[in-house]
Amino acid sequence: MRIIRGVVEMQKCCLALKRRKISIGFVPTMGALHEGHLSLIRSAKKENDSTCVSIFVNPAQFGPAEDFKRYPRPILNDCAVCKKEKVDFLFFPAREQMYAKGFRSHVEVEELSDMLCGARRGGHFRGVATVVAKLFNIVQPDRAYFGQKDFQQTVILRRMTADLNFPVTIRVLPTVREKHGLAMSSRNAYLSEQEREDALFLSASLREAAAMIKAGERHSGAITRRMRQILCSRKLMNVEYLAIVNPVTLAPVKRIAGGEAIVLAARAGKTRLIDNMLIAI
Ligand code: PAF
Repeated sequence: MRIIRGVVEMQKCCLALKRRKISIGFVPTMGALHEGHLSLIRSAKKENDSTCVSIFVNPAQFGPAEDFKRYPRPILNDCAVCKKEKVDFLFFPAREQMYAKGFRSHVEVEELSDMLCGARRGGHFRGVATVVAKLFNIVQPDRAYFGQKDFQQTVILRRMTADLNFPVTIRVLPTVREKHGLAMSSRNAYLSEQEREDALFLSASLREAAAMIKAGERHSGAITRRMRQILCSRKLMNVEYLAIVNPVTLAPVKRIAGGEAIVLAARAGKTRLIDNMLIAI
């Protein structure tokens, strides 16, 4: 595995692969790699001739009161994981490489970035879209891999890729869960034992929604009311939003017909957690 820290070196390397018609599968991450990332890396390896993983804790997607400084950075372990998975290139740029002095350009995916998580995290998706656009230009991947756990992020990045004509196929893979259903996330490391127990109610509420839909319920309000009851039964759980939305426009849907997404964000103590489920009928 080759570890590359420079933008120009990474870009040159990827251009050389492209000239030789070697396809590139790309997994952008902020590190603290877990099983969810591994499933993306393994798919990238299967579907491409070469694999590149990036690790960059992107300051532009953290608000001033968010956990940028505290975000886990176990770089030695991440390197070992990538090596073990036989990743070909690990791109690990320094902040000044990605945001040089005088940096002024941003990518804004309108409307989609202002709802749900975006309504509570001003500028977050502008930061995500900007860094992913930069990474796409640097790595020039054939396919890029994201987890469904960050559902709104995947909707926004699909929109950006189509709108800006990036020649990249966006692959979204199912959420990987811990044993009792908690969606894997680097932020799960912040949870106390009690918070972790309460956090299980996110996936439990989604399972209840799936059972209601299977039993014939089609009214979004009835489903979200029941989910809210489940979540609010936990003392440490604070629901930020809970909605059933169109999977492309993120507009709320009143009556479900299949294909919609149930999306939710809640705080277990101070830790913000998100989860979602695509409705299959
Ligand atoms: O999902 C993430 O880890 C980040 O938002 C991403 C896509 C790597 C951009 O910083």
